Amino acid sequence: MTLLVTGGAGFIGSNFVLDWFAAPATQGEPVVTLDALTYAGNPENLAALQGDARHTLVQGDICDRALVDQLLARHRPRAIVHFAAESHVDRSIHGPGAFMRTNVEGTFTLLEAARAYWSALEADAKAAFRFHHVSTDEVYGSLGPGDAAFTETHPYEPNSPYSASKAASDHLVRAWHHTYGLPVLTTNCSNNYGPYHFPEKLIPLMIVNALAGKPLPVYGDGQQVRDWLYVGDHCSAIRAVLAGGRLGEVYNIGGWNEKPNLEIVHTVCALLDELAPAAERGVVSSTSGQAVQRYAELITHVKDRPGHDRRYAIDARKIERELGWRPAETFDTGIRKTVQWYLAHGDWVARVQSGAYRDWVATNYAQR
Ligand code: NAD
Ligand code: DAU
Repeated sequence: MTLLVTGGAGFIGSNFVLDWFAAPATQGEPVVTLDALTYAGNPENLAALQGDARHTLVQGDICDRALVDQLLARHRPRAIVHFAAESHVDRSIHGPGAFMRTNVEGTFTLLEAARAYWSALEADAKAAFRFHHVSTDEVYGSLGPGDAAFTETHPYEPNSPYSASKAASDHLVRAWHHTYGLPVLTTNCSNNYGPYHFPEKLIPLMIVNALAGKPLPVYGDGQQVRDWLYVGDHCSAIRAVLAGGRLGEVYNIGGWNEKPNLEIVHTVCALLDELAPAAERGVVSSTSGQAVQRYAELITHVKDRPGHDRRYAIDARKIERELGWRPAETFDTGIRKTVQWYLAHGDWVARVQSGAYRDWVATNYAQR
């Protein structure tokens, strides 16, 4: 019994692999992580598993069919959990090509490799095999203020190159089930936050910028609404679907926690004021040169994201009804843990802010 996890060195994937070995129900089942280690993939996220015979990290590309075939033949996994993707909407606006390649072509390659492997399995192993596709609420498009939350039957209306590429991958997964009978599961989740979140995304970017006295760039009026879920809860939901989800079904995963971006940024600032006061740390504003008293002073409204979706909301009743899953964290407990994690892991933050990171920040924010 082994799992093949793609993208397991990224934010959610690494949390999933670490939680997998910590969760008693998984009984230490071995994991093979396949990850290209792009800018977003970091083997340091999995450092706690170094030397642990139950875990193997393979650096490689999901578009490399020969490599995927070889891994399937060697490790004989009973499931593939597919996280690998280009995941950042702003990057997809600046350079959509990588999103089409990894998210569409990569998912296609994995599906074909999985189909060949699964077709040749003995009856019992064939019946037990699962291809779990990890996707996003962004495929459903944008909601108005009074609209009902996304259910699993909401029409697909992706608006960004990222969400279009994820929508395409969802459709491929669906088609491989309906046409070839591949035993697939798809989960569509809302915005995650927590440890190992790369600081290009809203919450970690705000934490690291605030501590450095840099502007906190809020796109447009900051009233765009997202549903936020602590990453550990996403991992437990995936384990629940993998264990008990019905084949070919889609499960929405969410935190029942809709908040406008500006409120999120103020919450992060207030927690930093409490846990790491700017005056005590001697934080100086990088733009005014003045000492910072309250981190919220650094909030700066900047040009909006093109095609910015206004609101996402997830109706997560199906996964609760069928599998008994609900998030364990509230936003208050999750965001406090997250801020504390970043304060305790300054070395990790410093190491991921490489030259390539600084180039991206210049590309995305210089013209705003
Ligand atoms: P991430 O960008 O942090 O990690 C992606 C990982 O995939 C990285 O480790 C990267 O090296 C790897 N990767 C990229 N291209 C690859 C390739 N061609 N071959 C092999 N590995 C490759 O992303 P994340 O936030 O952890 O998201 C993981 C998955 O969850 C994605 O599929 C994303 O669409 C989905 N998702 C994310 C969120 C969120 O809030 N972050 C919410 C819902 C769904
Ligand atoms: O909804 C799930 C999705 O959530 C995932 O599928 C994506 O992989 C993940 O990146 C995330 O997408 P978002 O675009 O919602 O996340 P991001 O953190 O980039 O932005 C969250 C909100 O904050 C969004 O409305 C844009 C805004 N924002 C973001 C950044 C980086 C800002 O206002 N300022 C910023 O600097």
